[in-house]
Amino acid sequence: MKTYFVTGGAGFIGSNFIIYMLNKHKDIKIINVDKLTYAGNLENLKEVENDPRYTFVQADIADKAAIEKIFSENGIDYVVNFAAESHVDRSISDPEIFVKTNVEGTVNMLQCAKNAWMTGDDQYKSGVKYLQVSTDEVYGSLGETGYFTETTPLDPHSPYSSSKAAADMFVKAFGDTYKLPVNITRCSNNYGPYQFPEKLIPLIMNNTLSHKDLPVYGDGMQVRDWLYVEDHCKAIDMVIDSGRPGEVYNVGGHNEKPNIFIVKSIINYIRENVDSEVGEHLIKHVTDRKGHDRRYGIDPEKIKRELGWFPETCFEEGIKKTLKWYLENPDWMNNIVNGDYMKYYEKMYSAKKEI
Ligand code: NAD
Ligand code: TYD
Repeated sequence: MKTYFVTGGAGFIGSNFIIYMLNKHKDIKIINVDKLTYAGNLENLKEVENDPRYTFVQADIADKAAIEKIFSENGIDYVVNFAAESHVDRSISDPEIFVKTNVEGTVNMLQCAKNAWMTGDDQYKSGVKYLQVSTDEVYGSLGETGYFTETTPLDPHSPYSSSKAAADMFVKAFGDTYKLPVNITRCSNNYGPYQFPEKLIPLIMNNTLSHKDLPVYGDGMQVRDWLYVEDHCKAIDMVIDSGRPGEVYNVGGHNEKPNIFIVKSIINYIRENVDSEVGEHLIKHVTDRKGHDRRYGIDPEKIKRELGWFPETCFEEGIKKTLKWYLENPDWMNNIVNGDYMKYYEKMYSAKKEI
Protein backbone atom coordinates (compact mmCIF):
# COMPACT_ATOMS: atom_id res chain seq x y z
CA MET A 1 0.00 0.00 0.00
CA LYS A 2 1.75 3.18 -1.21
CA THR A 3 0.81 6.57 0.24
CA TYR A 4 0.77 9.65 -2.00
CA PHE A 5 1.04 13.15 -0.56
CA VAL A 6 -0.67 15.21 -3.27
CA THR A 7 -0.67 18.99 -2.94
CA GLY A 8 -3.09 21.28 -4.77
CA GLY A 9 -5.45 18.35 -5.28
CA ALA A 10 -8.54 20.56 -5.16
CA GLY A 11 -7.44 22.38 -8.31
CA PHE A 12 -7.90 21.41 -11.93
CA ILE A 13 -5.09 18.92 -12.64
CA GLY A 14 -4.68 17.74 -9.04
CA SER A 15 -8.33 16.70 -8.73
CA ASN A 16 -8.23 14.90 -12.09
CA PHE A 17 -5.05 13.14 -10.90
CA ILE A 18 -6.58 11.98 -7.61
CA ILE A 19 -9.65 10.58 -9.39
CA TYR A 20 -7.47 8.94 -12.07
CA MET A 21 -5.18 7.31 -9.50
CA LEU A 22 -7.94 6.02 -7.21
CA ASN A 23 -9.71 4.50 -10.22
CA LYS A 24 -6.54 2.98 -11.61
CA HIS A 25 -4.85 1.62 -8.47
CA LYS A 26 -6.81 -0.27 -5.81
CA ASP A 27 -4.03 -0.45 -3.23
CA ILE A 28 -3.01 3.17 -2.67
CA LYS A 29 -3.77 5.94 -0.18
CA ILE A 30 -3.90 9.62 -1.12
CA ILE A 31 -3.60 12.57 1.25
CA ASN A 32 -4.65 15.75 -0.51
CA VAL A 33 -3.26 18.95 1.01
CA ASP A 34 -4.73 22.12 -0.39
CA LYS A 35 -5.00 25.68 0.91
CA LEU A 36 -8.31 26.14 -0.94
CA THR A 37 -7.47 29.42 -2.64
CA TYR A 38 -9.92 30.86 -5.17
CA ALA A 39 -8.84 28.02 -7.52
CA GLY A 40 -9.35 25.17 -5.05
CA ASN A 41 -12.77 23.53 -5.15
CA LEU A 42 -13.73 20.44 -3.15
CA GLU A 43 -16.70 19.95 -5.51
CA ASN A 44 -14.11 18.54 -7.95
CA LEU A 45 -13.55 15.61 -5.59
CA LYS A 46 -17.16 14.72 -4.77
CA GLU A 47 -16.88 11.27 -6.34
CA VAL A 48 -14.00 10.28 -4.05
CA GLU A 49 -14.74 12.21 -0.85
CA ASN A 50 -16.08 9.12 0.94
CA ASP A 51 -13.44 6.75 -0.40
CA PRO A 52 -11.58 5.35 2.67
CA ARG A 53 -8.31 5.58 0.70
CA TYR A 54 -8.66 9.38 0.39
CA THR A 55 -8.06 12.10 3.03
CA PHE A 56 -8.27 15.88 2.69
CA VAL A 57 -6.28 18.34 4.82
CA GLN A 58 -6.60 22.10 4.39
CA ALA A 59 -3.11 23.60 4.68
CA ASP A 60 -0.61 25.88 2.97
CA ILE A 61 2.41 24.12 1.41
CA ALA A 62 4.57 26.95 2.77
CA ASP A 63 3.46 26.18 6.36
CA LYS A 64 6.34 24.18 7.86
CA ALA A 65 4.55 22.89 10.96
CA ALA A 66 1.50 21.73 8.97
CA ILE A 67 3.58 19.92 6.34
CA GLU A 68 5.90 18.33 8.93
CA LYS A 69 2.84 17.04 10.80
CA ILE A 70 1.53 15.31 7.67
CA PHE A 71 4.88 13.60 7.09
CA SER A 72 5.21 12.56 10.74
CA GLU A 73 1.68 11.16 11.02
CA ASN A 74 1.70 9.23 7.74
CA GLY A 75 4.22 6.95 6.10
CA ILE A 76 4.53 8.97 2.90
CA ASP A 77 6.04 7.21 -0.13
CA TYR A 78 5.51 9.84 -2.82
CA VAL A 79 5.02 13.60 -2.97
CA VAL A 80 3.30 15.03 -6.05
CA ASN A 81 3.47 18.81 -5.83
CA PHE A 82 0.74 20.41 -7.95
CA ALA A 83 0.00 23.27 -5.53
CA ALA A 84 0.70 26.59 -7.19
CA GLU A 85 -0.63 29.92 -8.22
CA SER A 86 -1.17 29.02 -11.85
CA HIS A 87 -2.54 31.96 -13.83
CA VAL A 88 -0.16 34.12 -15.89
CA ASP A 89 -2.51 37.16 -15.93
CA ARG A 90 -2.77 37.14 -12.12
CA SER A 91 1.02 36.86 -11.87
CA ILE A 92 1.37 40.03 -13.94
CA SER A 93 -0.88 42.03 -11.60
CA ASP A 94 0.19 40.40 -8.30
CA PRO A 95 3.56 38.59 -8.48
CA GLU A 96 4.39 38.28 -4.75
CA ILE A 97 2.02 35.40 -3.97
CA PHE A 98 3.64 33.46 -6.83
CA VAL A 99 6.98 33.64 -5.03
CA LYS A 100 5.40 32.70 -1.71
CA THR A 101 3.53 29.63 -2.95
CA ASN A 102 5.44 28.47 -6.00
CA VAL A 103 8.98 29.06 -4.74
CA GLU A 104 8.87 29.15 -0.92
CA GLY A 105 6.12 26.51 -0.83
CA THR A 106 8.17 24.17 -3.01
CA VAL A 107 11.31 24.66 -0.92
CA ASN A 108 9.31 23.89 2.22
CA MET A 109 7.90 20.71 0.63
CA LEU A 110 11.41 19.62 -0.40
CA GLN A 111 12.90 20.33 2.99
CA CYS A 112 10.12 18.49 4.85
CA ALA A 113 10.36 15.50 2.46
CA LYS A 114 14.14 15.36 2.90
CA ASN A 115 13.91 15.46 6.69
CA ALA A 116 11.13 12.88 6.84
CA TRP A 117 12.73 10.43 4.41
CA MET A 118 16.43 10.70 5.33
CA THR A 119 17.93 7.56 6.89
CA GLY A 120 21.61 8.59 6.75
CA ASP A 121 23.96 10.86 4.81
CA ASP A 122 22.49 11.02 1.28
CA GLN A 123 20.41 7.93 2.17
CA TYR A 124 16.62 7.79 2.03
CA LYS A 125 13.83 5.40 2.91
CA SER A 126 13.60 2.93 0.05
CA GLY A 127 11.34 3.68 -2.92
CA VAL A 128 10.40 7.26 -2.03
CA LYS A 129 10.14 10.01 -4.63
CA TYR A 130 9.35 13.73 -4.85
CA LEU A 131 7.70 14.77 -8.12
CA GLN A 132 7.43 18.44 -9.06
CA VAL A 133 4.70 19.32 -11.54
CA SER A 134 6.20 22.07 -13.66
CA THR A 135 5.38 23.66 -16.98
CA ASP A 136 6.73 24.13 -20.50
CA GLU A 137 6.48 27.89 -19.84
CA VAL A 138 9.86 27.74 -18.04
CA TYR A 139 11.50 27.33 -21.47
CA GLY A 140 10.16 30.67 -22.72
CA SER A 141 8.84 31.22 -26.20
CA LEU A 142 9.57 29.44 -29.50
CA GLY A 143 9.78 30.89 -32.99
CA GLU A 144 7.80 29.34 -35.81
CA THR A 145 9.81 26.11 -35.78
CA GLY A 146 11.46 23.81 -33.24
CA TYR A 147 10.37 22.24 -29.96
CA PHE A 148 11.24 22.35 -26.27
CA THR A 149 13.38 19.41 -25.18
CA GLU A 150 14.51 18.72 -21.62
CA THR A 151 17.86 20.39 -22.41
CA THR A 152 16.39 23.61 -23.81
CA PRO A 153 17.76 26.44 -21.61
CA LEU A 154 15.26 27.93 -19.17
CA ASP A 155 14.14 31.39 -20.30
CA PRO A 156 10.94 32.29 -18.45
CA HIS A 157 9.23 35.61 -19.18
CA SER A 158 6.23 36.00 -16.89
CA PRO A 159 6.29 36.20 -13.09
CA TYR A 160 4.39 32.87 -13.14
CA SER A 161 6.90 31.03 -15.33
CA SER A 162 9.81 32.63 -13.46
CA SER A 163 8.45 31.35 -10.16
CA LYS A 164 8.01 27.85 -11.64
CA ALA A 165 11.57 27.95 -13.05
CA ALA A 166 12.92 29.01 -9.65
CA ALA A 167 11.04 26.12 -8.03
CA ASP A 168 12.50 23.69 -10.60
CA MET A 169 16.01 24.90 -9.76
CA PHE A 170 15.41 24.14 -6.08
CA VAL A 171 14.13 20.66 -6.95
CA LYS A 172 17.28 20.11 -9.00
CA ALA A 173 19.41 21.44 -6.13
CA PHE A 174 17.83 19.01 -3.64
CA GLY A 175 18.53 16.18 -6.10
CA ASP A 176 22.11 17.27 -6.80
CA THR A 177 23.10 18.38 -3.28
CA TYR A 178 21.26 15.99 -0.98
CA LYS A 179 20.61 13.15 -3.49
CA LEU A 180 16.88 13.41 -2.77
CA PRO A 181 15.10 11.20 -5.37
CA VAL A 182 13.29 13.80 -7.47
CA ASN A 183 11.66 14.12 -10.85
CA ILE A 184 10.31 17.17 -12.65
CA THR A 185 7.58 16.96 -15.29
CA ARG A 186 7.09 19.89 -17.68
CA CYS A 187 3.81 19.70 -19.48
CA SER A 188 2.07 21.88 -22.02
CA ASN A 189 -1.35 23.54 -21.61
CA ASN A 190 -3.85 21.11 -20.09
CA TYR A 191 -7.57 21.08 -20.79
CA GLY A 192 -10.46 18.95 -19.56
CA PRO A 193 -13.09 18.82 -16.79
CA TYR A 194 -12.79 21.02 -13.67
CA GLN A 195 -10.58 23.74 -15.16
CA PHE A 196 -11.17 27.09 -13.49
CA PRO A 197 -12.88 29.54 -15.91
CA GLU A 198 -10.07 32.10 -15.87
CA LYS A 199 -8.22 29.84 -18.37
CA LEU A 200 -8.83 30.10 -22.12
CA ILE A 201 -11.05 27.09 -22.89
CA PRO A 202 -13.58 27.26 -20.01
CA LEU A 203 -13.58 31.08 -20.19
CA ILE A 204 -14.50 31.11 -23.88
CA MET A 205 -17.04 28.33 -23.37
CA ASN A 206 -18.70 30.16 -20.51
CA ASN A 207 -18.76 33.54 -22.25
CA THR A 208 -20.10 32.02 -25.48
CA LEU A 209 -22.99 30.40 -23.61
CA SER A 210 -23.91 33.74 -22.03
CA HIS A 211 -23.36 35.77 -25.24
CA LYS A 212 -20.54 37.78 -23.64
CA ASP A 213 -17.53 39.20 -25.49
CA LEU A 214 -14.84 36.62 -26.22
CA PRO A 215 -11.52 38.30 -25.35
CA VAL A 216 -8.74 37.28 -27.72
CA TYR A 217 -5.41 38.76 -26.69
CA GLY A 218 -3.66 40.55 -29.56
CA ASP A 219 -3.93 38.85 -32.95
CA GLY A 220 -4.85 35.45 -31.45
CA MET A 221 -2.06 33.74 -33.38
CA GLN A 222 -0.16 32.65 -30.24
CA VAL A 223 0.26 28.88 -30.26
CA ARG A 224 -0.26 26.51 -27.33
CA ASP A 225 0.31 22.73 -27.35
CA TRP A 226 -2.88 21.27 -25.83
CA LEU A 227 -2.73 18.18 -23.59
CA TYR A 228 -5.85 16.36 -22.42
CA VAL A 229 -5.62 16.29 -18.62
CA GLU A 230 -6.04 12.49 -18.35
CA ASP A 231 -2.99 12.00 -20.59
CA HIS A 232 -1.05 14.24 -18.21
CA CYS A 233 -2.23 12.18 -15.20
CA LYS A 234 -1.06 9.02 -16.97
CA ALA A 235 2.38 10.59 -17.54
CA ILE A 236 2.77 11.58 -13.88
CA ASP A 237 1.80 8.08 -12.76
CA MET A 238 4.46 6.61 -15.09
CA VAL A 239 7.17 9.04 -14.00
CA ILE A 240 6.52 8.26 -10.32
CA ASP A 241 6.70 4.56 -11.11
CA SER A 242 9.68 4.41 -13.42
CA GLY A 243 11.20 7.85 -14.06
CA ARG A 244 14.94 7.86 -13.47
CA PRO A 245 15.75 9.85 -10.30
CA GLY A 246 17.00 13.37 -11.02
CA GLU A 247 15.48 13.48 -14.51
CA VAL A 248 13.16 15.98 -16.16
CA TYR A 249 10.40 14.68 -18.45
CA ASN A 250 8.52 16.88 -20.93
CA VAL A 251 4.88 15.93 -21.46
CA GLY A 252 3.01 17.00 -24.58
CA GLY A 253 1.40 15.48 -27.58
CA HIS A 254 1.97 17.65 -30.68
CA ASN A 255 -1.46 19.26 -30.48
CA GLU A 256 -0.35 22.80 -31.34
CA LYS A 257 -3.16 25.23 -32.11
CA PRO A 258 -3.36 29.03 -32.41
CA ASN A 259 -5.66 30.60 -29.82
CA ILE A 260 -8.05 31.93 -32.46
CA PHE A 261 -8.56 28.37 -33.74
CA ILE A 262 -9.53 27.26 -30.21
CA VAL A 263 -11.98 30.15 -29.86
CA LYS A 264 -13.62 29.46 -33.23
CA SER A 265 -13.83 25.71 -32.50
CA ILE A 266 -15.71 26.42 -29.27
CA ILE A 267 -18.09 28.85 -31.00
CA ASN A 268 -18.81 26.26 -33.71
CA TYR A 269 -19.47 23.50 -31.20
CA ILE A 270 -21.88 25.64 -29.17
CA ARG A 271 -23.62 26.89 -32.34
CA GLU A 272 -24.10 23.37 -33.67
CA ASN A 273 -25.08 21.71 -30.39
CA VAL A 274 -26.62 24.31 -28.10
CA ASP A 275 -27.42 27.77 -29.41
CA SER A 276 -27.69 28.74 -33.10
CA GLU A 277 -27.42 32.46 -32.26
CA VAL A 278 -23.78 32.46 -31.16
CA GLY A 279 -21.14 33.32 -33.72
CA GLU A 280 -17.81 34.93 -34.44
CA HIS A 281 -19.36 38.40 -33.92
CA LEU A 282 -18.73 37.75 -30.19
CA ILE A 283 -14.94 37.73 -30.70
CA LYS A 284 -13.16 40.89 -29.46
CA HIS A 285 -9.45 41.30 -30.09
CA VAL A 286 -8.21 43.11 -26.98
CA THR A 287 -4.95 44.54 -25.61
CA ASP A 288 -2.31 41.84 -25.67
CA ARG A 289 -0.97 40.26 -22.47
CA LYS A 290 2.32 41.89 -21.37
CA GLY A 291 5.33 39.76 -22.31
CA HIS A 292 3.02 37.30 -24.07
CA ASP A 293 4.88 34.14 -25.17
CA ARG A 294 4.24 33.49 -28.86
CA ARG A 295 4.54 29.74 -29.18
CA TYR A 296 4.96 26.67 -26.98
CA GLY A 297 5.65 23.22 -28.45
CA ILE A 298 6.83 20.12 -26.58
CA ASP A 299 9.09 17.39 -27.87
CA PRO A 300 7.85 14.34 -25.88
CA GLU A 301 10.47 11.95 -27.30
CA LYS A 302 12.19 11.24 -23.97
CA ILE A 303 9.09 10.18 -22.01
CA LYS A 304 7.95 8.10 -25.01
CA ARG A 305 11.31 6.38 -25.38
CA GLU A 306 12.10 5.81 -21.69
CA LEU A 307 8.67 5.17 -20.22
CA GLY A 308 6.46 4.27 -23.19
CA TRP A 309 4.08 7.19 -22.56
CA PHE A 310 1.95 8.48 -25.42
CA PRO A 311 -1.10 10.76 -25.47
CA GLU A 312 -4.34 8.83 -26.04
CA THR A 313 -6.63 11.78 -26.75
CA CYS A 314 -6.19 13.97 -29.83
CA PHE A 315 -7.38 17.56 -29.65
CA GLU A 316 -10.47 17.03 -31.82
CA GLU A 317 -11.76 14.31 -29.48
CA GLY A 318 -10.57 15.95 -26.24
CA ILE A 319 -12.22 19.30 -26.91
CA LYS A 320 -15.57 17.60 -27.59
CA LYS A 321 -15.29 15.56 -24.37
CA THR A 322 -14.37 18.70 -22.44
CA LEU A 323 -17.16 20.91 -23.78
CA LYS A 324 -19.68 18.09 -23.28
CA TRP A 325 -18.55 17.76 -19.66
CA TYR A 326 -19.09 21.49 -18.99
CA LEU A 327 -22.52 21.35 -20.65
CA GLU A 328 -23.52 18.33 -18.56
CA ASN A 329 -22.29 19.92 -15.31
CA PRO A 330 -23.72 23.46 -15.40
CA ASP A 331 -23.92 23.69 -11.59
CA TRP A 332 -20.16 23.34 -11.30
CA MET A 333 -19.62 26.45 -13.43
CA ASN A 334 -22.59 28.34 -11.97
CA ASN A 335 -21.24 27.92 -8.44
CA ILE A 336 -18.00 29.59 -9.53
CA VAL A 337 -19.43 32.38 -11.64
CA ASN A 338 -22.01 33.22 -8.97
CA GLY A 339 -19.19 33.66 -6.42
CA ASP A 340 -16.41 36.27 -6.29
CA TYR A 341 -14.88 35.21 -9.58
CA MET A 342 -17.11 37.32 -11.86
CA LYS A 343 -16.15 40.50 -9.97
CA TYR A 344 -12.49 39.72 -10.64
CA TYR A 345 -13.22 38.93 -14.28
CA GLU A 346 -15.25 42.10 -14.96
CA LYS A 347 -12.51 44.25 -13.40
CA MET A 348 -9.79 42.52 -15.41
CA TYR A 349 -11.74 42.60 -18.65
CA SER A 350 -12.80 46.26 -18.31
CA ALA A 351 -9.08 47.21 -18.13
CA LYS A 352 -8.57 45.79 -21.62
CA LYS A 353 -9.17 47.85 -24.75
CA GLU A 354 -10.55 46.54 -28.01
CA ILE A 355 -7.90 46.68 -30.75
P1 NAD B 1 -5.12 25.35 -10.35
O1 NAD B 1 -4.90 26.81 -10.20
O2 NAD B 1 -6.38 24.85 -10.97
O3 NAD B 1 -5.02 24.64 -8.92
C1 NAD B 1 -4.03 24.98 -7.99
C2 NAD B 1 -4.43 24.36 -6.65
O4 NAD B 1 -3.38 24.65 -5.71
C3 NAD B 1 -5.72 24.92 -6.07
O5 NAD B 1 -6.52 23.87 -5.57
C4 NAD B 1 -5.24 25.82 -4.93
O6 NAD B 1 -6.18 25.94 -3.87
C5 NAD B 1 -3.98 25.12 -4.50
N1 NAD B 1 -3.02 26.01 -3.83
C6 NAD B 1 -2.63 27.25 -4.26
N2 NAD B 1 -1.76 27.76 -3.37
C7 NAD B 1 -1.58 26.83 -2.40
C8 NAD B 1 -0.77 26.76 -1.23
N3 NAD B 1 0.02 27.77 -0.88
N4 NAD B 1 -0.80 25.64 -0.48
C9 NAD B 1 -1.63 24.60 -0.82
N5 NAD B 1 -2.42 24.62 -1.91
C10 NAD B 1 -2.39 25.71 -2.69
O7 NAD B 1 -3.85 24.81 -11.12
P2 NAD B 1 -3.72 23.62 -12.17
O8 NAD B 1 -4.06 24.13 -13.51
O9 NAD B 1 -4.41 22.43 -11.63
O10 NAD B 1 -2.14 23.40 -12.14
C11 NAD B 1 -1.55 22.44 -11.26
C12 NAD B 1 -0.04 22.46 -11.45
O11 NAD B 1 0.27 22.17 -12.82
C13 NAD B 1 0.60 23.80 -11.15
O12 NAD B 1 1.81 23.57 -10.47
C14 NAD B 1 0.83 24.42 -12.51
O13 NAD B 1 1.96 25.28 -12.49
C15 NAD B 1 1.09 23.18 -13.36
N6 NAD B 1 0.75 23.32 -14.78
C16 NAD B 1 -0.53 23.60 -15.16
C17 NAD B 1 -0.84 23.69 -16.52
C18 NAD B 1 -2.24 23.95 -17.00
O14 NAD B 1 -2.45 24.01 -18.23
N7 NAD B 1 -3.23 24.07 -16.15
C19 NAD B 1 0.17 23.53 -17.48
C20 NAD B 1 1.47 23.28 -17.04
C21 NAD B 1 1.73 23.15 -15.69
P1 TYD C 1 -4.21 30.57 -20.47
O1 TYD C 1 -5.36 29.62 -20.49
O2 TYD C 1 -4.23 31.68 -19.49
O3 TYD C 1 -2.90 29.67 -20.32
P2 TYD C 1 -1.33 30.10 -20.46
O4 TYD C 1 -1.21 31.56 -20.37
O5 TYD C 1 -0.73 29.40 -19.28
O6 TYD C 1 -0.87 29.53 -21.78
O7 TYD C 1 -4.06 31.19 -21.92
C1 TYD C 1 -3.89 30.39 -23.06
C2 TYD C 1 -3.65 31.32 -24.23
O8 TYD C 1 -4.86 32.05 -24.49
C3 TYD C 1 -2.60 32.37 -23.98
O9 TYD C 1 -1.87 32.60 -25.20
C4 TYD C 1 -3.38 33.62 -23.61
C5 TYD C 1 -4.66 33.46 -24.40
N1 TYD C 1 -5.88 34.03 -23.80
C6 TYD C 1 -6.70 34.87 -24.55
O10 TYD C 1 -6.42 35.18 -25.73
N2 TYD C 1 -7.83 35.36 -23.96
C7 TYD C 1 -8.17 35.06 -22.68
O11 TYD C 1 -9.22 35.56 -22.18
C8 TYD C 1 -7.32 34.18 -21.92
C9 TYD C 1 -7.64 33.82 -20.50
C10 TYD C 1 -6.19 33.69 -22.52
